[in-house]
Amino acid sequence: MANASGFFSPTVPSLRRRYQPCIGFYRSGFCSTELISKRVFCSSATEGAEKHASGASPSESRVPRLVSKGCKLVGCGSAVPKLQVSNDDLAKIVETSDEWISVRTGIHNRRVLTGKDSLTALAVEAAKKALQMAQVDPDDVDLVLLCTSTPEDLFGSAPQIQKALGCKRNPLAYDITAACSGFVLGLVSAACHIRGGGFHNVLVIGADALSRYVDWTDRGTCILFGDAAGAVLVQACDSEEDGIFGFDLHSDGEGQRHLNASIKDNEMDHVLGSNGSVSDFPPRRSSYSCIQMNGKEVFRFAVRAVPQSIEYALEKAGLSGSSIDWLLLHQANRRIIDAVATRLEVPPERVISNLANYGNTSAASIPLALDEAVRSGKVQSGHTIAAAGFGAGLTWGSAIIRWG
Ligand code: ACO
Repeated sequence: MANASGFFSPTVPSLRRRYQPCIGFYRSGFCSTELISKRVFCSSATEGAEKHASGASPSESRVPRLVSKGCKLVGCGSAVPKLQVSNDDLAKIVETSDEWISVRTGIHNRRVLTGKDSLTALAVEAAKKALQMAQVDPDDVDLVLLCTSTPEDLFGSAPQIQKALGCKRNPLAYDITAACSGFVLGLVSAACHIRGGGFHNVLVIGADALSRYVDWTDRGTCILFGDAAGAVLVQACDSEEDGIFGFDLHSDGEGQRHLNASIKDNEMDHVLGSNGSVSDFPPRRSSYSCIQMNGKEVFRFAVRAVPQSIEYALEKAGLSGSSIDWLLLHQANRRIIDAVATRLEVPPERVISNLANYGNTSAASIPLALDEAVRSGKVQSGHTIAAAGFGAGLTWGSAIIRWG
């Protein structure tokens, strides 16, 4: 059980006077006083979801951190599989109806990877579009963060994306596993790498194929999920242009029992010892169970924890709910999105949602919705967005960001 929250932005006027010269940190790990430009404050502490949701502020435990750069979001892209599965299609394989799914979730369609499709290829397509929009050459990318819980290689798929993009300068590439909170965690990680690690162009990709872990006979879960990839290019910039204003991150392993896809032993691979008993060595080959979810508990957790997390992030950014242009939540359920917007007093016309077309695409849902909103002209350069992810772990968190 833990949380971390902070603000970095020198662009929030009320925070500017706090900056003062300090030590900068480089990717190599060496310290220098030459690139010193500002000081910001972050916080971290340990608290449970219940306690945090009941009002304990993380700001009490705030401790100083040192940074030297700003970072901004300069490009985005997305990709979805070709196969579309409608509610009516699902009603042919489980006992459900278009009406039940639409009313309870707001979902009408989802995209699903077929046998031949690759999630890595989808992530590469999204990343290429983000680089194109940002007008950044793959060779200039120095970090690839793949936020996914469904990599095609147990050891991580990010290096495969790095290879497919043709990044000749061999950027660092690794995976981040945090289910539906993955993209927000990736965004904050990118900011930390830029501010404290000397990285310049960081590709944050959210990509998931939960369809591969869904029990397609379980009507309680199979109606919810879809597959997709979305990407954002986060770039180092002058501290005055900084576009990641504040964040708030949490996890609570207590809640794992409500939502998981845990490891299971493969019954067929049990090894018999010489006396006929099941031997402990060599270990059995493992696989993962399908997604197990207590929907009601996850629903309750989301509507309780997410608005509070956004409020904390806004507080760290020195902003109020009325100053955000867009609310962009993980696309899990229309009723969750509506409840959070109501609690934060954000009117429906300032809520971004494409849930109806894609369902819950886990780590991809925020960058996918952002990409559509940017390309349709809804989100414009300079707009402030409150983004929040929540899901398995349990994990949840928010980031207050500026587009462009
Ligand atoms: N079609 C028809 N009936 C259904 C279906 C279905 N697809 N699914 C469940 N039902 C039935 C149930 O059997 C139950 O029937 P009963 O009353 O006869 O027992 C009834 O509908 C109500 O079921 P509930 O599960 O109580 O329905 P609820 O209103 O809670 O909605 C839902 C279920 C949509 C899953 C909701 O709980 C939800 O969205 N929860 C949040 C999930 C979420 O946000 N996950 C995000 C994280 S995902 C991740 O991190 C990987």
